[in-house]
Amino acid sequence: MEIKAIRGMNDILPKEVRTWRFVEETARKIFGLYGFEELRSPVMEKTELFLRGIGDETDVVEKQMYTFTDKGGESLTLRPEATASVLRAVIEHGLLGEDPVRKVYSIGPMFRYERPQKGRYRQFHQINAERLGEDSPFSDAETLKLAYDLAASLGLEGVAMEVNSLGCEDCRAAFKKTLEGFLEGRAGSLCEDCSRRMRKNPLRVLDCKVPSCKEAVAGAPVLEEFLCDDCREHYRQVLSGLDAFGVPYGKNPLLVRGLDYYTRTTFEITAQGLGSQNAIAGGGRYDNLIGTLGGPETPGIGFAFGMERLVMLIGAVPAQERGCFVVAQGDEDVRRYAMGLLAELRAGGVPAEGAFDKSFKAQMRRAGRSGYPACAIIGGDEVKEGAVTVKDMRTSSQDRVPRADALARVQSVLSAQGEEA
Ligand code: HAM
Repeated sequence: MEIKAIRGMNDILPKEVRTWRFVEETARKIFGLYGFEELRSPVMEKTELFLRGIGDETDVVEKQMYTFTDKGGESLTLRPEATASVLRAVIEHGLLGEDPVRKVYSIGPMFRYERPQKGRYRQFHQINAERLGEDSPFSDAETLKLAYDLAASLGLEGVAMEVNSLGCEDCRAAFKKTLEGFLEGRAGSLCEDCSRRMRKNPLRVLDCKVPSCKEAVAGAPVLEEFLCDDCREHYRQVLSGLDAFGVPYGKNPLLVRGLDYYTRTTFEITAQGLGSQNAIAGGGRYDNLIGTLGGPETPGIGFAFGMERLVMLIGAVPAQERGCFVVAQGDEDVRRYAMGLLAELRAGGVPAEGAFDKSFKAQMRRAGRSGYPACAIIGGDEVKEGAVTVKDMRTSSQDRVPRADALARVQSVLSAQGEEA
């Protein structure tokens, strides 16, 4: 029986890879403009890292981790997000000692045991950024601007950014108490998860997507009103920085996010055309996380884009440019002559393919179907004369040129077509 891929884990086929590469290349370009460097960490970590880093009250840790015991009896987990792994690597290799401000990005697969649906998968990919060592509101504003630039450079439509401040532990403690009191009166209308969260993590109830919970939190106290002076000023300056950068945003006091490490600024970016899973990116500040993971107390802020959602929005990207198809028909001498030409074309930077086992007609058909703009035709006559026939596939005009001029002639056919395109 045929073996299929695991549910929620997708193959990315050549036609789709073009869009993935466009997204990756655009992201790398933008990160370069902002002084970010790439960091690659393993896809698997000790389970303890995520328990400590993400928080054991979160959906990700409670329900979504791919955790197993390896042959040595150690509990390991496929990374459900990149932040904890990246910070572990930064701490382990003392990168903050080399430079107290670090800006790193990572691109790769993440794993969450979620119910698969459009835009939500069990293996998905993130473009992740972390900016460490600065607590200035300028670094928040600039990080959000970076995320916005990336969405804009990908040409996405209907992009909207929502921002909130979750304050620090001090201001949150007062807010939590008031919120708990408010929720107690509405406990009957909360979903099962929220009834449980209500005591330990009442903030999560605020952004629960279950309709009865949404109704229950209407009119709930607003965290912004509980912010201490420092957090209030920080938030004000973040928003003022976004204005200075010209980044459009909306304030959303219910934006809590599903991971427990956030402090102060949180944000999310949505785009049109995705249905219910419309968040293309999310992130925020985490001033206690590096300390929690055993590193030096260091503030940080970051975000991650979900690549599947970006790829869905962008759709098809034109195929890689083709160059010259070499069609050869004849004995071994003809083939050797054609192989020499293939090698010379590629050495000259022209993408080239051949398929000498097929009939002349089949080779020409393949050249046409694959969208090759130029064709080099070689038979016994060409070999005898020391020539190559070069055909412009768009105009169908063809010319026999000396072998030594073949590369230049192919290049001129390609550049003439490139100019017309
Ligand atoms: P997150 O909101 O859990 O944040 O994920 C970020 C983005 O990843 C989401 O907005 C979404 O586009 C995508 N995503 C999440 N889960 C799935 C899924 N199951 N299938 C497809 N796409 C998905 C984080 O992961 C944080 N680590 C972001 C961060 C970095 N905060 C600070 N630094």
